[in-house]
Parts: sequence; C-alpha cells; structure tokens
Amino acid sequence: FHIDIDASEADKGTYDYYMLKEIDEQPVVIRHLLDKYFDDAGKILLGDQLLADIQAADRLYIVAAGTSYHAGLVGARMLEQWAGLPTEVHVASEFAYDQPLLSQKPFFIFLSQSGETADSREVLQNINRAGFKSLTLTNVSNSTLWREATYALPLMAGPEIAVASTKAYVAQVTLEAILAYALSSRLDLDLEKELSRIAIEIQAIVDDKLTFKRVAEELLVNSQSAFYIGRGVDADVALEAALKLKEISYVQAEGFAAGELKHGTLALIEDGTPVITLLTQPKTAGLVRGNIAETQARGADTFTIATKSLATDGDGYVLPDVDPLLAPLLTVVPTQLLAYYTSLGRGLDVDHPRNLAKSVTVQ
Ligand code: AGP
Repeated sequence: FHIDIDASEADKGTYDYYMLKEIDEQPVVIRHLLDKYFDDAGKILLGDQLLADIQAADRLYIVAAGTSYHAGLVGARMLEQWAGLPTEVHVASEFAYDQPLLSQKPFFIFLSQSGETADSREVLQNINRAGFKSLTLTNVSNSTLWREATYALPLMAGPEIAVASTKAYVAQVTLEAILAYALSSRLDLDLEKELSRIAIEIQAIVDDKLTFKRVAEELLVNSQSAFYIGRGVDADVALEAALKLKEISYVQAEGFAAGELKHGTLALIEDGTPVITLLTQPKTAGLVRGNIAETQARGADTFTIATKSLATDGDGYVLPDVDPLLAPLLTVVPTQLLAYYTSLGRGLDVDHPRNLAKSVTVQ
C-alpha cells in the first residue's frame, strides 16, 4: 500500500497539475527556509548540540531514495568541500541490506520528502539498534523518519502532491547548504544573500517556462530516449533530470557523467538522440565542451544549459553565474520544466504517472 496525500482538486487553483504549481512555488520555499533557519542578525538557527554531534563524527553517511538520493549527492559535496567533513551517499534499499564498513564515529543524515519511505526507515532502525546518531531532513513533521531520528529539521516546502518531487528537492539542497555552511568557516560566501538571489533567479526561469515548453516539444516529446550529461555536481543533477523525465513522460532517459560516455554508452548516441548538457562548473567546462562535441559528431541533437561566464554561442539556455555547488538550485528548474512539458505533450497524467506512488512504503 502507499500513502498518497489526499489533496482536494481545489488546492490546484488555476493550475492543471500540482507539479507545475510546485515548480512555481520553489522561490517561496527558499524564502521560507531563510526565514526559518536565519535570525534577523543573519545567525543560523540549527541547534548547537546537532552541530556538535556532526562535528564529532569522523564520517557522515547520507541515506535516501530517488530524488532525495539525488539531493544527497549534492549535499555530500557541500559537506566535504565547504565543511571538510568526509561524506558518503547511499541508496537506502542497498544500504539496508549491504551495509558498507562504517567509520569509527559515523553520523547519519536521512533525506525524505514523505518521512515514510520504507527503505529509509529500514536503515534508520538498523542505525538506532547500533546506537548511532542521526538527523532527518523531511517535509512531513512527526513522520516516522522524523520521530525515530536523533534530530529532525523541516523542509518548509508545504505539501508536495505531485508524484514527481520538485520543490522538496530544492528544499533539501537548500537546507543541506545551510547545514554545510553552518559547519564551515566560509567567509567568502554570504549564503543568506546568495540564496535570496537564487530565489529571484528561479522566479525568472519559471517565468520563462514557455521556452521550455517549446524545447520539450521540439526535442523530447517525440523521442524514445534522451541523455542528460555533466561533470561534478552537474552529473548529480543529470541523474535527477533523467528521473524526472522518465517517471512522468516515460522517455528512456539517462543521467551520465560526461567524461564517462566514451567508455561505452556513447554507442547509444545516434542521429537525432537528444543530449542535454548541464555546464556550470568552471574547472571542467572545457572538457565538457569536448564531450558535447563527441555526441554531436554522432548526430546528437544537443541542448546546453550553461552559466553565463561559461556559455558560448549555440547554447540553449544561459543561467546567471552562481557559487558552483549552489548551481543545482538553478539547473534543476529547466529540467523539471522540460519533464513537465514532455509529459503534457504526450497527453499523460503528469501528477499521477503509471505504476508510481507519492510515498513508497513498501521495500
Ligand atoms: C521522485 O520524483 C520520486 N517520486 C521518488 O523517487 C521519491 O523521491 C522517492 O520515492 C523518495 O521519497 P521520499 O523523499 O519521500 O523518501
């Protein structure tokens, strides 16, 4: 059985589907997180005991499923690169039954929109039996993962009804950034200011949604397969972008590390195969340009989403420059819209994709 939040159609307001409403709500979600976790003097409100327990760990383990797992991949980079905390990310259904060797002083972070995912609950029960401490980031207060973890922080995203998770992903990445920043001593970034600016930039992207309707119709609606590629945190978002497209439009989409394509998967690229590239990381931008060219040489239809300072003529969409590890908050939005309009273009029920439920409470 699954827990599907019972939502009246009236909540949709003027929207045809909850998913688009929830994509549009993302700027507000970031503002709710800023209000909740920063005080008027800009101090972060996360609780000293929680921060002390995380800093006492020698290794962090992020455990999640699906979109939440993809958010964890981004959070791990923030915790490592901003706070210097070694961090691993695991799919809950694997970790539950094939647990890796743990460090001496582990600390666990569970990401879950519903707080009820059975795979994640299984891991938390194992962790509790072993006496380790944990933190849950979830959108549902008093959910199982909220109640059974040592600490819990709300995602402040409001009810997420569409099966395809969007605003919860943005909320998880935002809250992971706040946590990593609180654990770091970064002076070169004013996170509160940068997140406020990102909320405004997301608004600009969702205001431009008809661009992505056109691109979806030209590039994806009539395609059987599609690739999202990138390097570093762009590869993490490529996984999330592919999941969005797969789960609501049923296009066989893959998210792939751009540098890894040539080790086999490039064989799948043929004339007209859509290849969407996320390009926001200065360190590897030149290499990614080469990877795009490799796919074009095999006839791919490419569409590149790049940040301004890395953009070149012919790119499909240019995003404003942003701190490299915060780029997912911008790049994910066009990919959410591309999935939405591809599903719509195929005449599918965007909010209720076949065979899927909002919260997977079976293992
Ligand atoms: C995401 O679009 C999917 N609906 C699914 O992968 C979801 O993220 C996953 O089942 C995890 O759910 P949770 O965040 O509630 O734990």
